[in-house]
Amino acid sequence: MSLEGRNAVVTGGGSGIGRASALVLAERGAAVAVWDLNGEGAEETVSRIREAGGKAIAIEADCAKTVPVAEATARTRAELGPVTILVNNAGITKYKAFLELSEEEWDETIEIDLKGPFLVTKAIIGDMLDAGWGRIVNISSSSTQSGSPNMAHYVAAKGGIIGFTKALATEFADKGITVNNVPPGFVDTPLMRRNVSDPVRVASRMPMKRAGRPEDVAYAVAYLASEEAAYVTGHTLSVNGGRFFG
Ligand SMILES: NC(=O)c1ccc[n+]([C@@H]2O[C@H](COP(=O)([O-])OP(=O)(O)OC[C@H]3O[C@@H](n4cnc5c(N)ncnc54)[C@H](O)[C@@H]3O)[C@@H](O)[C@H]2O)c1
Repeated sequence: MSLEGRNAVVTGGGSGIGRASALVLAERGAAVAVWDLNGEGAEETVSRIREAGGKAIAIEADCAKTVPVAEATARTRAELGPVTILVNNAGITKYKAFLELSEEEWDETIEIDLKGPFLVTKAIIGDMLDAGWGRIVNISSSSTQSGSPNMAHYVAAKGGIIGFTKALATEFADKGITVNNVPPGFVDTPLMRRNVSDPVRVASRMPMKRAGRPEDVAYAVAYLASEEAAYVTGHTLSVNGGRFFG
């Protein structure tokens, strides 16, 4: 599954699942632009890719804001060339009981987790249309499959991502562009450790008796980004160790 000659953008590539995805895409030959609000995290991912012999650039950008997304897109095109692989991964997860959830908190999560992928996809998809080839992989969440208390804002945003995936998949199916989503379930990342006080206990309740590794998700992302996945679109590829099906 070589990605040689392809340019990829991974949003939120400075940590966790995004970092692992950037590393695996680069290992397969893609040049990767690592976009993250956390510039240091993005630089660290790029250092690891370069140490392994890959090509990557780091760009500090807020992927939920129009101007930074436009600037990051222009820099990526100037330094790497047109982008035909996009991993919409940047996201936040904040637990809050619905009765205490404010309008501002709702808006923040919707803006970063749902509007961000819309803005980044809008900025980049022209390159895919020009190439007649593209792969968009959106990171959703297994919480959309289970429902989840204290996460109405997050589940609404990530559920929106699944709808967004299916809508774009149908709209661009005859243009050589596939659009899929991966809903991770309980993956050991800085985000998960910020939110879960006893990850070992939670992991012991998983069918596989372990948390997911960021690489588990990254390999699914790399498959969906590959030439071999050409006839797979609008799909939800669950990576959750057997916790939920579908
Ligand atoms: N870890 C899990 O168990 C899990 C489960 C389901 C879904 N997810 C989803 O996977 C994705 C990655 O999560 P993770 O666990 O690796 O989290 P993480 O916190 O380790 O990494 C997320 C990265 O996104 C960046 N980011 C956040 N907002 C941004 C913005 N506006 N612009 C640019 N970058 C931004 C952060 O700086 C961070 O580097 C998220 O979309 C998350 O919702 C994770």
